[in-house]
Amino acid sequence: MNLEKIDINPSNIPRHIALIMDGNGRWAKQRGEHRLFGHTKGVDAVREVLKAAKSFGVEYLTLYAFSTENWNRPQQEVDGLMSLLVDSITNELPELQKQGVKLQVIGDFKGLPETCQVSLSEGMESTKHNTEINLVLALNYSAKWEITQCVREISLKVAKNEMIIDDITPELISLHLTTKDIPDPELLIRTSGEHRISNFLLWQLAYAEFYFTETHWPDFGKEELRAAIISYQSRERRFGMVSE
Ligand code: FPP
Repeated sequence: MNLEKIDINPSNIPRHIALIMDGNGRWAKQRGEHRLFGHTKGVDAVREVLKAAKSFGVEYLTLYAFSTENWNRPQQEVDGLMSLLVDSITNELPELQKQGVKLQVIGDFKGLPETCQVSLSEGMESTKHNTEINLVLALNYSAKWEITQCVREISLKVAKNEMIIDDITPELISLHLTTKDIPDPELLIRTSGEHRISNFLLWQLAYAEFYFTETHWPDFGKEELRAAIISYQSRERRFGMVSE
């Protein structure tokens, strides 16, 4: 299908797009640059994609910015990513305000460095009334961590007789995940040619459509997002039912 010839159908925009931003390191290596240069360019792509998502009418954009496994990267890269995060939040805050972006974070917040917690808290507090688009950063996040937390929380409530086993339903589980205020994504995009879910939103992606592209994250922009949405719109979503 030649996606360039087709336009987006404005009446079928995914409300929530989740994104695995992969390939910053490879993008940098191809240019003989350090991995952190790739991550810095990755922030430029975040800015462009956020704007594009808003212009298409997407309500939630969730970005896998740092997984619990990413702590195992070289210390220099971890430190660089954390500084980049703090600097980006500080520098982008006026633009986020201007664009009406509400910043949210999912993940093990308390496990982030103090400086990150402070700048993220400021960012979330100052944007909490914005309604144009929700930017959800998955930081120190993994779905297995999230589901473990959820099971512990529910088990504690049962142990304290605050609920009974029969109260445990899929809806109740959703309400004990870090995404409790966020609808499930309809579309997952992963860049840079990998076809894995990498411990991201395992529960929430149950019925999502997946879109994979060879493009490295720093090269992903408005046109790539458009192509992903058009591909999504060409899919028939049956939720386990039949077409008729
Ligand atoms: C994956 O590429 C990218 C990451 C693990 C980090 C993504 C982070 C950013 C783009 C910065 C986020 C900042 C804000 C403000 C959201 P990779 O390093 O795994 O690439 P590779 O697979 O080519 O090595």
